[in-house]
Amino acid sequence: MTSAARVLHTLPNQAALYRAAAERLLALGTAAIAAHGAFHLALAGGATPQGLYTLLGTDELAGRLDWTRVHLYFGDERCVPPDHHDSNYRMVRESLLDRLPVAPQLHRINGELAPEQAAADYAALLHRQLPAAGFDLILLGLGPDGHIASLFPGSDTLNQRKQTVTADYVPKLDSWRITLTLPVLNHARHLMLLVSGAHKADVVRHVMRNIAHANPLPVEMLRPQGVLEWFVDADAARYLEHQD
Ligand code: 6PG
Repeated sequence: MTSAARVLHTLPNQAALYRAAAERLLALGTAAIAAHGAFHLALAGGATPQGLYTLLGTDELAGRLDWTRVHLYFGDERCVPPDHHDSNYRMVRESLLDRLPVAPQLHRINGELAPEQAAADYAALLHRQLPAAGFDLILLGLGPDGHIASLFPGSDTLNQRKQTVTADYVPKLDSWRITLTLPVLNHARHLMLLVSGAHKADVVRHVMRNIAHANPLPVEMLRPQGVLEWFVDADAARYLEHQD
């Protein structure tokens, strides 16, 4: 697999990170729609991307993309109902979908189902919906332990090379998650990693040292054939030398 371009953007604060990420996403979406009539976009969960989704749904930006041509997927989901406080779908609905003037084509992970069923259903949906070229863009957050999507350190799923979606019990969270697997992430045309906050500074430093480890962190196992762009605010980039 060809090594990807890895681009690091360090931004002065979280608002600047959201602005830079929004502009990049809108540019990639516009290009994808122009090139093949659709934008296949997988969203990240957690807290960091909420501000990006809210910004994308503002009057200023919502009209900058033809959302009717956007196929919206999830990189992972908690095994909870869609109205549950922990649901990534609920977070995306409240921060983005409810604010958009038109509805994208939404492909939700059915977290309310039994984990294995939810994973099998989503794998079947990806097989139906996703072009052979894979996702145009996958958004990812980064955990302080180096997890991405719901691929956690020590998980057997990190060695998964065939399945596109798995159900994982995460001991440290005592909960089940549904997640895209590394082959799907690495097949994407573009990955954007959104990293904000001083509590991420250690893991950012660890990754940017580019030291080969016997047990690489999940984020270090990203070898996309496309482009991997990091958007890191100053708090998370505090141990790195230069800043944009
Ligand atoms: C999730 C996310 C997860 C998240 C990281 C970072 O479902 O929680 O997919 O991978 O991106 O845990 O979370 P924060 O953005 O909240 O720090």
